[in-house]
Amino acid sequence: MIPALIAVHVVSIVIWIGGVVFVTTVVFPTIMTMEDSMEKVIFFQGTERRFAKIAKASVVVAGITGVLLLQLEGRWHVLFSLSGIGPTLMLILWTMFVFMLLFEAKIFSFLFRGTAQHDTKKIFRKLAASHWVIMLVSLMVIAIGIIANHSGW
Ligand code: HEM
Repeated sequence: MIPALIAVHVVSIVIWIGGVVFVTTVVFPTIMTMEDSMEKVIFFQGTERRFAKIAKASVVVAGITGVLLLQLEGRWHVLFSLSGIGPTLMLILWTMFVFMLLFEAKIFSFLFRGTAQHDTKKIFRKLAASHWVIMLVSLMVIAIGIIANHSGW
């Protein structure tokens, strides 16, 4: 049961974080090459709307399987301790993403406060930069999760 749950858990992470990598390394650089502001916004909204649905579904599956794994492994007590560094970082990152997906409109208006509507270049530069941070942190959590789980920490 646990190996199958880890498999479903990791596949949902691959779809979700794989999507973040694609958006960061392909979608935003493509948007930055576009001259027309309206074209940027339409392309971004089209991509973001489609990926948001996939991301939300993957986040739900990752959360449910993650909690089930903690329960079946009886490892709730390791959370927020060194021996539980893997699931602890996963839980923190998962919670951050849930907030980002739930309050993305508010986060966007905060990110772009004081940025003139027409300054799309600046808006997308900020979005691209924030996605690089999110992507690198997520990849780090995956690496630590695997190392922690296979080195008997
Ligand atoms: C509610 C959030 C989450 C919980 C409770 C959770 C919990 C767990 C648990 C208990 C395991 C089994 C291995 C272990 O006990 O260390 C596991 C495996 C794993 N998790 Fe999570 N997880 C969550 C979210 C995430 C996220 C957001 C990521 C990556 C961005 C992630 C990446 C992984 C990976 C790569 C493994 C496989 C480790 C291995 O066996 O090689 N998880 N998770």
